[in-house]
Amino acid sequence: MKVTVSRKAHFNAAHRLYRKDWTDEKNDAVFGKCNNPNFHGHNYELIASVTDDIDKETGYVIDIKELKDIIKEEIEDAFDHKNLNLEVEEFKDLNPTAENIVVVIYDKIKKRLKSTNQLEVTLYETPRNFVTYSGQ
Ligand code: NI
Repeated sequence: MKVTVSRKAHFNAAHRLYRKDWTDEKNDAVFGKCNNPNFHGHNYELIASVTDDIDKETGYVIDIKELKDIIKEEIEDAFDHKNLNLEVEEFKDLNPTAENIVVVIYDKIKKRLKSTNQLEVTLYETPRNFVTYSGQ
């Protein structure tokens, strides 16, 4: 009997979409306003969902307090009020698109979970634009 437990979280961060190895013209053509050299911010919302069997003793899939603490330590403390391009190691050489951010978030949370826990992460860059990754 598999049940999914989800936790929502939030962080504000700035980014700029560009590739160092492309010309300014090509970056402008592909990334448009997101290539603004002065960066721009988003209110990111994320949902981390853990699916597993219910533990017979505790009745939990995962202690949600534990999931909350993992998200705080791995994501909020690392990304909130940061410039992703300049201040977050994972994006030094990785374009911080929503797609790449959700994969980084997934990897950081996944390594803290039990191996049987399946994880899915949804990241909202705006209320209407969101991406989902579940490790495939
Ligand atoms: Ni953006």
